[in-house]
Amino acid sequence: MIYKTDEQVELMRQSALLVSKTLTEIAGTLKPGITTLSIDKKIGEFIRDHQAIPSFLNYNGYPFNSCISVNDVVVHGFPGVKELIEGDILTIDVGVILNGWHGDHAYTFAIGDPGKEVMRLIQVTKESLYKGIEKAIVGNRIGDIAFAIQEHTERKNGYGVVRELVGHGLGKNLHEDPQVPNYGKRGSGPKLKEGLVLAIEPMINMGTRDVYTDDDGWTVRTNDGKPSVHFEHDVCVRKGKADILSDYSIIEKAEKANPNLFTQQILQPLN
Ligand code: MF3
Ligand code: CO
Repeated sequence: MIYKTDEQVELMRQSALLVSKTLTEIAGTLKPGITTLSIDKKIGEFIRDHQAIPSFLNYNGYPFNSCISVNDVVVHGFPGVKELIEGDILTIDVGVILNGWHGDHAYTFAIGDPGKEVMRLIQVTKESLYKGIEKAIVGNRIGDIAFAIQEHTERKNGYGVVRELVGHGLGKNLHEDPQVPNYGKRGSGPKLKEGLVLAIEPMINMGTRDVYTDDDGWTVRTNDGKPSVHFEHDVCVRKGKADILSDYSIIEKAEKANPNLFTQQILQPLN
């Protein structure tokens, strides 16, 4: 396991924030009629304009700057020429390398109104991310994060927690130890120590947890064709309280200011 110094964590915060800024920039442009390929182009330009590199491009042969996963696509969706329509939900997952350090996080948006049930899936998934982050403190174990996410999504709300894909350590590499599953037993797995940076990323299905991969070798979809939601934050393990390096507040501000996007503010907080 690689633990980061305070100086390294500050550099990683800059990388994570560049991803947040990229997602914020894109949030302002989302509307029905645009293609996910046009979004991906803007993402590449924005990252390069900020002296960074889109880290997903060519990673294990991945052919785009970003992953854009629409509706039943869980993760690793290819940007394409199909136009977004009202009622679509899309997860935009972005990775950068800035000054040698990776940032990697994701946010799910709703174009127009996808309906109450889908908005609830979005809200519960985001809440589960924060419940996992609460457990990312010194002395806990990976299983405490995993359990908190599974508890909120699967046991309390009946959603499917994807088993095939997991969160991960983050640093000079996109994927470092440890793996961070979104399901598991409290008190199990590696111990969390000061300076461990994790990408925590619940991938939650409205229906069954089962997924399959398209012939393109990347696109992961739900077996039942129902929607899936994915939120991801970059987090540093600390004593007492985790330090969230990425920033949803600027994305949420842009989301609320864009009349084409449906947000969760009208819903009651769920326990
Ligand atoms: N957030 C994803 C991950 O952590 C993105 C990787 S996609 C790839 O694995 F294109 F880079 F492979
Ligand atoms: Co990730």
